[in-house]
Amino acid sequence: MIEITLKVNGQMHRVSVEPGENLLRTLREKIGTRGVKQSCDYGGCGACTVIANGKTVYSCMTLSAKMSDAEITTVEGLETTHGLDPLQTLFMEKWALQCGFCTPGILLSSKCLLDSNPNPSEGEIKEALAGHVCRCTGYIKIIEAVREAAELRSRK
Ligand code: FES
Ligand code: FES
Repeated sequence: MIEITLKVNGQMHRVSVEPGENLLRTLREKIGTRGVKQSCDYGGCGACTVIANGKTVYSCMTLSAKMSDAEITTVEGLETTHGLDPLQTLFMEKWALQCGFCTPGILLSSKCLLDSNPNPSEGEIKEALAGHVCRCTGYIKIIEAVREAAELRSRK
């Protein structure tokens, strides 16, 4: 076993991981952030997406042993003492919510995009969400919600 330290949603965790253990398992089973979803488990769907050191990663394809000292945000970390992240609120208001497997990762990719690009074009939003495969949506409502979140941020 290998000892690593992860900062998850602002809190430090020291955990023992196996050499081949993925970040998805570490986050769900050892840290308890069940908002990270396991779906395909081979890098094909985006459900397991988290933000690690400011970039989105598929946690199912990320070795925990290589992530020591990483700063990670999961969907649980989007809510603050002020309430839900505006993205979460807009996803609800704009009917952009998908199922519980798809939504956490899509929210995190959207947040990561807006943090680095406050005024993304429709094409840039599509590109940021390209790694999320859901057969149940045309993504139109999701793109509208992300655009509106960008506009809301620009007014603050
Ligand atoms: S569960 Fe990781 S990409 Fe599908
Ligand atoms: S698989 Fe989650 S909404 Fe389509």
